[in-house]
Amino acid sequence: MRELLSKQNLDYMDRAREVAEKYVRPRAAELDRTAEYGWDILEALKKYELTGIWIPKEYGGHGAGVLDLCLVVEQLSRACGGVGVAYAVNALGSFPIMLNATEEQKQKYLPPIATGEKLIAFGLSEKASGSDAGSLRTTALKDGDGYVINGEKKWNTNGGQASIFTVYALTDPSRGMRGISGFIVEKDTPGFRLGKREDTMGIRTVSVHELHFENCRVPKSALLGGRAGDGFKNSMMTLDRARPGVAAQAVGLAQGAFEWALRYSSERKQFGQTVMSHQAIQFMLADMATQIEAARQLVYTAARVIDSGAKNVNKIAAMCKVFATDTAMKVTTDAVQIFGGYGYCRDYPIEKYMRDAKITQIYEGTNQVQRMVIGRALTRELSELTANLEVKVEHFADEAAGELVGAPE
Ligand code: CAA
Repeated sequence: MRELLSKQNLDYMDRAREVAEKYVRPRAAELDRTAEYGWDILEALKKYELTGIWIPKEYGGHGAGVLDLCLVVEQLSRACGGVGVAYAVNALGSFPIMLNATEEQKQKYLPPIATGEKLIAFGLSEKASGSDAGSLRTTALKDGDGYVINGEKKWNTNGGQASIFTVYALTDPSRGMRGISGFIVEKDTPGFRLGKREDTMGIRTVSVHELHFENCRVPKSALLGGRAGDGFKNSMMTLDRARPGVAAQAVGLAQGAFEWALRYSSERKQFGQTVMSHQAIQFMLADMATQIEAARQLVYTAARVIDSGAKNVNKIAAMCKVFATDTAMKVTTDAVQIFGGYGYCRDYPIEKYMRDAKITQIYEGTNQVQRMVIGRALTRELSELTANLEVKVEHFADEAAGELVGAPE
C-alpha cells in the first residue's frame, strides 16, 4: 500500500528493494550454503546510502525513523532473511547508545556505524539467562577508575562481524537487575574474545557467537551513559524499539516465500491445470496474502507509534513482533507445502525462508515473552479499559459454605 507511505518512506523502500534484487537475491543461496558474511552486500548498502539511517543527523546518520528502518529490513529480508537481520542488528546495537549514552560516547561510536565503517552487536543474553534477562551473571566490578568484566554472553548476532558491542553486566550484584549497567566494549579490548560460533538452522550468513570476558578491563568512559544501575531498563527500552525490526524481517520473509509460491503455483500443473486454479491452493494463497498484509500494517503502525515519541511502546512492539513472526512461520510453511516435495529440497529457494523464519519467533524475546509483555500491559490498563463496566459474577463456588451461590435454578 504505497499510498500510505511518505515520499521519504518510499525512497528508502525502493532503494532497499533495488539492493535486494541486484545484490542480495543472486547471493542468498550461496551465503546460506557457505555461511559467509555478505561483505559485498554491505558495500552495496553503503553505495545506496542505506547504512545507519536510524542514527541522528548530528552523528552522521539520516535521522530516519523506525518505520524507514522496517521498510529497508523488509525489502532485504524478502530476498534473504540473514541479510535482513545482519542489517537490523546494527540498529539493535546502536539504540542503547542513542537512548542512553553520553554526548562523548555518541560522538565516538555513532558516526562509524552510520557510514557502515563499523558494525555493532548487542550482548544481553547468557547461557542461563535468556527470557529472564534480569538474571544475568556477567559482572563488571569497579576497579580503580575503570571496570573489570567477567562472564559470558550468548546468542550474539553479528558477533563475528561487529567491532563494537553493547554489553550488559552487573556492576552491583547485590542489587539484582537494578545492579545491571550497560557498557560499550571494543573488539580489541584485552580480555575480550569471541567464543564458539553457533551452527544455526537459518540466517546463516550472519554469525551468532558467544562472547567471553576474562578480566576484561574497560575504562569508566565505557560505562553507558556514565551511570551505573539503569542497564536493565535501557536494554528493555532498546528491545521495544528494535522488535518491530524483527517483525519487519518476518514480513519480508513471508512476502518473499509467498511470491515464490504464487509463481510456482501458476506454472505447476496437476490434474490438467495449474495448481493455482485448484481452489484448495487458491484459498491458501488468499489467506497467505491477507495475513501478510495484516502483519505488515501492524508493523508499520507500531513503528509509527515509536516514531511519534510515545513513551509506552512495549505492548504495540510486542504485538507486532508476535503477529508478524507467527505469520511468517505459517506463511513460509504453507509456501513449502505448495511446492510439495520440491519445497523440501535445497535445490529450491523455498525451504530457506522457513528456516530463516523460525528464529524470528525466538530472538529479541521469544513470542511467549511477547505475550507476557502484552498480558502485563493489559493488566495495567485494566481499570482504564473497563472503567464503565461492571460484571456480576453469579456463578462461583462459596468454598466456606460448601455450596454454590447464585447457581441457576
Ligand atoms: N521499558 C522500560 N522499563 C521497563 C520495561 C520497558 N519495556 N520493561 C520493564 N521495565 C522496567 C520495569 O518498570 C521495572 O522497573 P522498576 O524496578 O523500577 O519497577 C524493571 O524494568 C523490571 O521489570 P519487570 O519486573 O517487568 O522485569 P522481569 O524480570 O519480569 O522481565 C521481561 C520482563 C519482559 C520478561 C524481560 O526480561 C524480557 O524482555 N525478556 C526477554 C529478553 C530478550 O528479549 N532477550 C533477547 C536479547 S537480544 C537477542 O535475541 C540476540 C540478538 O543478538 C538478536
